[in-house]
Amino acid sequence: MSTPPRQKRLTPADITALKGNRPIVSLTAYTTPIARILDRHCDLLLVGDSLGMVLYGMDTTVGVTMDMMVAHGQAVMRGVSRACVIVDLPFGAYQESKEQAFRNAVRLMKETGCDGVKLEGGAEMAETVAFLVSRGVPVFGHIGLMPQQVNTSGGYRSKGHSEAEQDKIRRDAKAIDEAGAFAMVIEGTVEPLAREITTTVKAATIGIGASPACDGQILVSDDMLGLFNEFKPRFVKHYSELAEVIEKAAEGYAAEVKERVFPGQEHTFQIRPKK
Ligand code: KIV
Repeated sequence: MSTPPRQKRLTPADITALKGNRPIVSLTAYTTPIARILDRHCDLLLVGDSLGMVLYGMDTTVGVTMDMMVAHGQAVMRGVSRACVIVDLPFGAYQESKEQAFRNAVRLMKETGCDGVKLEGGAEMAETVAFLVSRGVPVFGHIGLMPQQVNTSGGYRSKGHSEAEQDKIRRDAKAIDEAGAFAMVIEGTVEPLAREITTTVKAATIGIGASPACDGQILVSDDMLGLFNEFKPRFVKHYSELAEVIEKAAEGYAAEVKERVFPGQEHTFQIRPKK
């Protein structure tokens, strides 16, 4: 595996240091060619377990495996020269014990060359976060709406609409901040709370369906590109309509094949004249 030199890329500490300076730009990436393009524009690329849904057609992220995360982490690392790259620990790879979390985090870092791992959870994961950080694993937290908990949390609805839910998210943010997370995703959380958390934690907050006041923003790249159109959550903005572009290209190709327009002479090989 050949990965670009470490010193050229942003570190998790660089990401935290951007807090209070300028907004942190992040997107998800899963493949080498897309990582190559996004790298020029992003501070942080997340190899998110959302790949289960956007690349593999799964209904949720629950079925994503460590092997999938390793393969896509390696692919993304082949395409970056600037961005900090974080790989998601998938469901079931860290909740059992802090030792299991460490083993799998180390596997992701060793086999992909990524800069750290992301895990979902608040107060209940704080001990694990502290265990990883104290042993050399940078941790990107994830609070608010946690897609890996979709089966116990009542679906993909936004969080923080009651006082009790707000208190829980506040406690979650404080717990993983004190445990040493360098940054945390705040997903699907009412705006004033995401704004408040950003002012109270040391970690950089990266919002998705949260607040423009977060220290940075992230979107699933296939959502942002208009490629994944199964559903469009309120917080998604399309910066392109790639699904339509691909549809048109496929339509044009199919028509030309049927009409024997493609391949043209210029796409074929003729026998070279003997010298
Ligand atoms: O898996 C993922 O892509 C994520 C982002 C949506 C933050 O967790």
